[in-house]
Amino acid sequence: MDPYRNPFAPGAGSRPPELAGRSVILDMARISCGRAVNGRNARPIMLLGLRGVGKTVLLNEIGWNAEREGLLVSRAESPEGESLARLIFPEMRKVMRSLSGVEAAKHLATRGLKGLRNFASIFKIEMAGVEVGVEPEPGLAETGDLQYDLPDLFTLIGKAAQAAGRGWLLLIDEVQYLSESDLSALIVALHRTSQEGLPVLMVGAGLPQIARLAGEAKSYAERLFQYPSVGALDPVSAGQAVEKPVLDEDATVAPEALQAIYERTKGYPFFIQELASVVWDNSEGPEITAADVERSYVETLARLDEGFFKVRVDRLTKAEVQFVKAMAQLGDGPYAMADIAKSMGRSQSSLGPARASIISKGMIFSSDHGYLDFTVPLFAEFMRRQG
Ligand SMILES: Nc1ncnc2c1ncn2[C@@H]1O[C@H](COP(=O)(O)OP(=O)(O)OP(=O)(O)O)[C@@H](O)[C@H]1O
Ligand SMILES: [Mg+2]
Repeated sequence: MDPYRNPFAPGAGSRPPELAGRSVILDMARISCGRAVNGRNARPIMLLGLRGVGKTVLLNEIGWNAEREGLLVSRAESPEGESLARLIFPEMRKVMRSLSGVEAAKHLATRGLKGLRNFASIFKIEMAGVEVGVEPEPGLAETGDLQYDLPDLFTLIGKAAQAAGRGWLLLIDEVQYLSESDLSALIVALHRTSQEGLPVLMVGAGLPQIARLAGEAKSYAERLFQYPSVGALDPVSAGQAVEKPVLDEDATVAPEALQAIYERTKGYPFFIQELASVVWDNSEGPEITAADVERSYVETLARLDEGFFKVRVDRLTKAEVQFVKAMAQLGDGPYAMADIAKSMGRSQSSLGPARASIISKGMIFSSDHGYLDFTVPLFAEFMRRQG
């Protein structure tokens, strides 16, 4: 059918034409935002899921919903190796600046800007354009220890937002890349604002190991956060994700075709978008048939192999590739570390550095004590296809 009218959206972070199967999480976020704004206890949310399940698009949607409700929304994505201080400084500054324009919040926000100025200088963050009329104030967010300074700033933002009758929503993607001390500081800051009943909420997203990382950073993190898991779509939601956009373009899709798409993709959103997009282009229309799905499958796999999967492997060294190959040869995960070592003819301890490095690159995670699994769904099958 006409490729110009193809509604599907393959690609990292691309907004799907139909965000299917996520209403529970969207409602959870909406309620938490509403509670936070009203000074009621609202637990921060950490979306946990594998690669390509739709965490980024969910965060974006949560952000838009919150903006529509009048919250101030900050967005940050943690790139590997970047400090939290640097990452969220510009966001905090934007929020303080916008609050300083509200009469009722002016005083607090100005104090916040002073704190930010100290913060920037102690954490060596260059500020483009010095704050006009803002004198540094000693003793405010300038210990140089993020565990003290971040809670101070979050509290100031929270108080200013409260005075302005607003709320602040901080969205952080790829949380697993934060260092342990940064994650700790973030948890302490959120704990503080929550204890003080301030209208501050964070929604984070990342790989499943975050739950453990957060627990190791601060033992109370387990009770502080809500951890909804974002996974593959069930057959009904997967069907909606495909059918609704097709109907909107005045075409139809046979029930057998929907079922074939579900079976081929196992409900994984990245795969659904890619397959549905190829199917659309290949179909004569106006009805998409199961045969269209079947003849599009190989092409879709080739696209994923060249894109989605390949970019992940390209980040690994040769020795690391051997490691993940050995995992894939064992079948589908999770994989006992002992079995991986055995199949490679190596000792577990000699594989420790490779294991740690692949984990830090976000390719595998420790699913349970002594067990590993891939963070990329269907990755083992991909590795086996490579021979
Ligand atoms: N609920 C959904 N229904 C249909 N398609 C979806 C849904 N959620 C995400 N998608 C599609 O899945 C793909 C991956 O989404 P996204 O980039 O948000 O995943 P992610 O979990 O952030 O992945 P990564 O961990 O690699 O960053 C996109 O093409 C997006 O359009
Ligand atoms: Mg993402």
